[in-house]
Parts: sequence; structure tokens; C-alpha cells
Amino acid sequence: MTKSVFITGGATGIGRATGLLLAQRGYFVGAYDIDEERLAVLERDITAVGGRGVVGHLDVTDADEMARRLAEFHETAGGRLDVLINNAGLLNAGRFEEIPLEVHHREIEVNVKGVVNGLHAAFPYLKTTPGAVVVNLASASAIYGQADLANYSATKFFVRAITEALNLEWGGHDVRVIDMWPLYVNTAMTSGISTGTTTSLGIRLTAQDIAEGIVAAVDPTLPRKVLRQVHFPVGTQAKALAAGARFSPAWLTRLVNKRLAGH
Ligand SMILES: NC(=O)c1ccc[n+]([C@@H]2O[C@H](COP(=O)([O-])OP(=O)(O)OC[C@H]3O[C@@H](n4cnc5c(N)ncnc54)[C@H](O)[C@@H]3O)[C@@H](O)[C@H]2O)c1
Repeated sequence: MTKSVFITGGATGIGRATGLLLAQRGYFVGAYDIDEERLAVLERDITAVGGRGVVGHLDVTDADEMARRLAEFHETAGGRLDVLINNAGLLNAGRFEEIPLEVHHREIEVNVKGVVNGLHAAFPYLKTTPGAVVVNLASASAIYGQADLANYSATKFFVRAITEALNLEWGGHDVRVIDMWPLYVNTAMTSGISTGTTTSLGIRLTAQDIAEGIVAAVDPTLPRKVLRQVHFPVGTQAKALAAGARFSPAWLTRLVNKRLAGH
């Protein structure tokens, strides 16, 4: 039995690295994106590492296209969907009022509606695949609202909330819903951005770090399994921020975030 994984925004960055790693681990990989040129490169690279998979166009904001791609993939993968990775995302950095409204709206369309579309369309296939897992790409910006990333951060709080809720709802269907909380990762998303926290915390993680974190979260160690871990901070800094927010008083968490953002 070959396990299958469907990845949105799979052409570059974290999606690509995760697709390649899971292909090497024997998964049948479906990578979908609006960037078909880079998908073609990934398809060749999956074959080069001895893996198997398919790639295809998908705009996650188009619910009908999402439903079609998932149905096709489910059939091609032999009637199973072991892992869904809602990874496609956009990030706009800067002062909230200086970013045009339509740019904020597009970020919400992709980061929020794209995830809802994926979850909704995939549910029938996840439910009928024993031990299925959903991995949503949230972010360390889902720990405390981030200055200079206000709208992005808010979209990731949405991802955090829907992950927590569906982790409860879908547990009864043997579907485990989790999310990843990386801090800044060195991908196209962060290239050229400069905020208070990119300066104070740096951009230290690689796409490969997150891919390895995802693989470990999909197949967790026994303690994580027993504790039913839902959120997976990636990297020392994100782990420290998550622990700090959990155990510090609210005024201190605010102050730390204010200082880190330089506001
Ligand atoms: N890079 C970071 O610092 C960081 C940190 C935490 C979380 N994340 C999250 O991880 C995920 C992946 O980020 P990344 O750093 O690999 O970004 P990236 O920009 O390198 O890759 C994102 C991919 O999503 C695709 N995409 C964009 N809009 C799409 C759409 N409408 N439909 C389908 N595909 C679309 C892009 O073409 C691209 O291939 C995102 O959800 C992001 O918010 C990133």
C-alpha cells in the first residue's frame, strides 16, 4: 500500500521541499500550484530521487478547481488520501494602512478561503482513508498578532482556530488535523521583506527544516501521539515564543512582541 499526499502551493519553498522529502519516503505525491513552470521542475526532481507523483494547476481560491483536482488525485492515488497539506500562501509585509485594500483581500482569499476550500473538498477522501492527517501551514505569527504583518498574522490565527476546531470534530472520523508554526523561513515569501521582527529575529530556517518538521509531525513520536499535539512550532525561536506566550502574563507577552517588532 502506497501512501499519498496532496500538497497545495507545491511548486516552490516549503511545499516543494516537503513533496520531495515525502517522495523519498515512498509517498505518492500530488503537488499543485498556479506556477506550472516550477511544478514541471519538481515533477522531474521527484522522478530523479526515485519517487512517484503527479503535478497540476490549482488556484486554491477556486473551490471548483480544488474539488476537481482532489477527485482526480484521489483516483490516481488508488482511492486514498493519507495526507493533505494546505500550504499555499501569500505574505504582505508593511504598515497595515499603506498596503492597498485589494492586496489584503487577496491574502485573505488565498490564506483563509484556500484552506477552507481544501478542507471541505478533501473531507470525504480523508474520512475513508484510515489514519489520515491534515497539515495546515499556520505560522509563528499565529502565537501573537504581528506588527507589520497584521493581515497575514490574522489569516494565520484563522488557520490556527480551524485546525483546533477540526482536530476535535474530525478526530471521531480518525482524521488528525494539525498545524505548523514556523518562524521566518528563507523562501521566496520572505525574500526582500524587512520588518521589525526580521531584523530582531532574523530569517534562520530553511524550507528543508520545515519539511523535516512536517514529516515528523505526520508520523509523531509516542509522547506527541499520547499528548495529541495539535500545534507544531518549528525551530528554537518559535518554540521559545510559543512557550513564552503560554506561560507569561498577557502584558509581558505584549511587551515582548512590541520590543521584537521595534514598535
Ligand atoms: N516563509 C516563511 O517565513 C513562512 C513562515 C511560516 C509559515 N509559512 C507558510 O508556509 C507556506 C508556504 O510558504 P513558503 O515560504 O514556501 O512560500 P513560497 O512563496 O516560497 O511558496 C508559496 C507557494 O504557494 C503558491 N501559491 C500562491 N498563491 C497560490 C494560489 N492561489 N493557489 C495555489 N498556489 C498558490 C506559490 O506559487 C508558491 O509556489 C505558506 O502558507 C506560508 O504562509 C511561511
